[in-house]
Amino acid sequence: MKDFRELAVKAAKEAGDILRENLGKIKRIDYKGRVSLVTDIDRKAEERIISLIKERYPSHDILTEERRIKEKGSQYKWIIDPLDGTTNYVHGYPRYCVSIALEKNGEVIKGVVYDPVPDELFLAEKGKGATLNGRRISVSKINKLDKSLLATGFPYDRRERADEYLRIYREFMVNSQGVRRDGAAALNLCYTANGRFDGFWEERLAPWDVAAGSLIVSEAGGRVTDFKGDKLDIYEKEILASNGKIHREMGEILAKIIKKSP
Ligand code: IPD
Ligand code: CA
Ligand code: CA
Repeated sequence: MKDFRELAVKAAKEAGDILRENLGKIKRIDYKGRVSLVTDIDRKAEERIISLIKERYPSHDILTEERRIKEKGSQYKWIIDPLDGTTNYVHGYPRYCVSIALEKNGEVIKGVVYDPVPDELFLAEKGKGATLNGRRISVSKINKLDKSLLATGFPYDRRERADEYLRIYREFMVNSQGVRRDGAAALNLCYTANGRFDGFWEERLAPWDVAAGSLIVSEAGGRVTDFKGDKLDIYEKEILASNGKIHREMGEILAKIIKKSP
């Protein structure tokens, strides 16, 4: 188990170094959709992580954002986002990270999120708590939505479904101290885990966006569910994460707006 953790940390740090060293040196940008980008640096960081995993655990499965790797049927699956926050990265906005999780028989048991800019490494192991640079972290104690600071993101179909996303955003905006939207879901989850944010919601994320961060929130004492408050399925497209204390209020807002949506 220690080996898994050490490898995840090594891979996240090496990939993070690649991101930091190459900021401003992007050679190629491809469009996966109208507002969804991938760069040569996403791919370079991803290759580094994959080669470290393959070298150490050749029989493990790997699910990674920018490459399809044939499944081997292993009980272990590494879930990788080599660069969460690509749009920020392309624009030189220093809010991005590497996210690596390890699933065993369908359950996430390790999660590492590394932000190379402030050199912050968030780590969680199932049943063992969560840390930031080796120090234990826990969620905030804010117990009213009205006093909370929230985070969210707008999915890649935002041009088509802007009104729907803005209705939800508006309701949280007028019922909290503020809502931050800074383009890196994995970091939003980690900031919820260590109390910088009190809650986070987003739709249409992928497993690599949330696998590590959701374990980090729950191991820091928070709650992570779908919008209805049911157990999170990282392969489904909704996530509601919070310090637990404002979870019901957040869920009520989501239910109210979604019910009213045309
Ligand atoms: C994106 C970021 C963003 C979220 C998008 C994600 P990427 O990941 O996490 O915050 O709003 O939905 O896809 O594409 O930069 O890895
Ligand atoms: Ca991502
Ligand atoms: Ca990515």
